Amino acid sequence: MVAAPCNSTLPRHVAIIMDGNGRWAAKRHLPRQAGHVAGVNAVREVVRAACDIDIENLTLYAFSSENWKRPAMEVGALMGLFRLYFRNDMDELVERGARVRIIGNRSRVEEDIRRMIEDAERRTLSNAGINLTFAFDYGGQEEIAAAARELARAAAEGRLDPETITPELVSSRLFTSGLPEPDLVIRTSGERRLSNFLLWQSAYAELMFVETMWPDFGRQEFLDALDKFTQRERRFGALPESAA
Ligand code: FPP
Repeated sequence: MVAAPCNSTLPRHVAIIMDGNGRWAAKRHLPRQAGHVAGVNAVREVVRAACDIDIENLTLYAFSSENWKRPAMEVGALMGLFRLYFRNDMDELVERGARVRIIGNRSRVEEDIRRMIEDAERRTLSNAGINLTFAFDYGGQEEIAAAARELARAAAEGRLDPETITPELVSSRLFTSGLPEPDLVIRTSGERRLSNFLLWQSAYAELMFVETMWPDFGRQEFLDALDKFTQRERRFGALPESAA
């Protein structure tokens, strides 16, 4: 077992595109839903690991705005799993001091899920542990467009001088306002895409594509990814330290 990397080198914010549930299930001749069920166990294990090693921010891509295009039965099964997860895991998250946030478009989700989300956010609002964010009915382009709309409206109404629009101001209008930008974005299942996830926020993130299907991604795989992250040299557009 690989030990957790030492604290100073840990990413402050890890974001994960949890991909491969369907292929995991297909390989076992199981329905896709079984992959999502196994995926929830992986969510639980990775959240526990992140809490145990004091990752400050963990953001999980749970449902994209494009996922509504999936068959109604699969969407229904996923919604059922969110309900179960929030019902079964909230007490533990509260106990661990997690602050839960959901980013995305809330207008399309069913009323009881919206209430559950609001309840989870309210219950954990003053917690000081991990910021655990679920991207749910989330799309990065729509998030940026909504921020642009808001700023354009303020400018049109004379409340904002367009010349004062900076990247920081745009960031402050995104769902993730208040969270640091991700240092590390992991995507499981071997696919190499961002799929509309944290597009603005990931400008300088280290991208890590791992072959493991999400249901098989547990504590050890998470620690391995963090370990690999510590070996990356981050330059943010500057020169490597040795050449500076
Ligand atoms: C991608 O796998 C995964 C999703 C669309 C949903 C992610 C959901 C979970 C991990 C379970 C529920 C989560 C919570 C927070 C309760 P895929 O279905 O696209 O896999 P495939 O690419 O192999 O078909």
